[in-house]
Amino acid sequence: MSRFVSAAFCAIFVFSMNTANASAAYSAAAGKAVYDASCTTCHKTGLMGAPKGGDKAAWAPRISQGMDMLVSRSVKGYTGKLGMMPAKGGNPKLTDLQIGNAVAYIVQQSK
Ligand code: HEC
Repeated sequence: MSRFVSAAFCAIFVFSMNTANASAAYSAAAGKAVYDASCTTCHKTGLMGAPKGGDKAAWAPRISQGMDMLVSRSVKGYTGKLGMMPAKGGNPKLTDLQIGNAVAYIVQQSK
């Protein structure tokens, strides 16, 4: 019985953490596979003007915009001074969460 109660408390705690801080719910570890499959074409080599993953100077001003902006632009796509970031990296099958995870991975590698 007491084990059940403490498990329930843990679940409530984890759940409330998630809702309180939505952007912390993205997983860089889960995003690596998405990044490798769908983002490296441009972000590994700098193709089409894409900021390279791991290039701290290129990413610092972008990271300072905050996760919400980065994820929203990655999901919807946007055209900046350097080139065009296609919506979802051109892979519409990816979910918004998968894109968020991939962005978390890029950010982790680039700061
Ligand atoms: C066809 C090439 C291409 C692919 C594929 C691509 N990107 Fe990009 N991405 C770009 C370019 C070019 C920019 C820079 C646009 C600018 O700022 O001028 C960019 C910028 C970004 C930014 C910065 C946005 C900002 O606000 O500064 C993020 C985050 C990003 N990409 C995430 C991703 C993710 C995640 C994927 C894979 C799901 C991906 N990209 C796939 C070309 C690409």
